[in-house]
Amino acid sequence: MGYPLAVSMSVSSTASHPPSIASDDLELRPWDEPLLQQLAQWGERGFPYHAFDLGHLRDPMRARVELRRAREAGPHLHFIACEGDTAVGRVSVNLHDRAGLYLWAVHVPPEHEGRGVCRRMLATLMDWLEVEHPGPDFVLTTNAFAVRAHRSYQALGFKVVETRWHYDRPLAEELWRVPREQRKLIDQHLRFHNGRWEVRTHLMARSRG
Ligand SMILES: CC(C)(COP(=O)(O)OP(=O)(O)OC[C@H]1O[C@@H](n2cnc3c(N)ncnc32)[C@H](O)[C@@H]1OP(=O)(O)O)[C@@H](O)C(=O)NCCC(=O)NCCS
Repeated sequence: MGYPLAVSMSVSSTASHPPSIASDDLELRPWDEPLLQQLAQWGERGFPYHAFDLGHLRDPMRARVELRRAREAGPHLHFIACEGDTAVGRVSVNLHDRAGLYLWAVHVPPEHEGRGVCRRMLATLMDWLEVEHPGPDFVLTTNAFAVRAHRSYQALGFKVVETRWHYDRPLAEELWRVPREQRKLIDQHLRFHNGRWEVRTHLMARSRG
């Protein structure tokens, strides 16, 4: 995986909060109020990545709901990747998906992109999961147009195991609103089928080890 890891559980971890996981140059921490405040200020990309944008966290009510959701006990663990005290990315994992350990909400804001944050945070998380949740393979789904993400995933050993048309509701709804020129950017990955927009989506998987 390219670099050594020192995985450590923070003493404050509980059943309802994920642990803090440290590697050499990055730490995955559970969501908390100060980190959420940083996420609320992250740069946004807009269409077609608008579903990842976090500007809604500036609304105190929505921030409270999201914080509660991110910290509640359940199959999902939600992490914020930090360099020192700076939030530079986020990632979640569903520990109980039938397909495997399902990585999702992989997001690095524009101001921190292109420095390998995505790769480093996923590598850190997967190394920890291999120890703490042995068994299933790693899986994720990704829209066919997200080519930067694919480069990170491929570098980590993920391979496309299936490609299918998928109804992605936030994307489908936005497709009715965006100007035609914007839609053209991802046209080759779209189809209009049975009265709704669908996007070509890859299921990617990586074996353990
Ligand atoms: C996809 C995403 C997580 C990548 O994060 P990142 O930390 O920049 O990833 P990396 O630094 O590992 O870079 C990944 C690839 O994108 C390229 N890249 C990243 N930023 C770039 C930029 N501004 N210009 C050109 N290339 C860029 C990198 O060079 C790398 O490609 P390479 O391996 O050929 O060098 C981030 O761009 C993002 O959050 N995008 C929007 C949400 C999204 O698409 N999430 C994934 C959904 S499946």
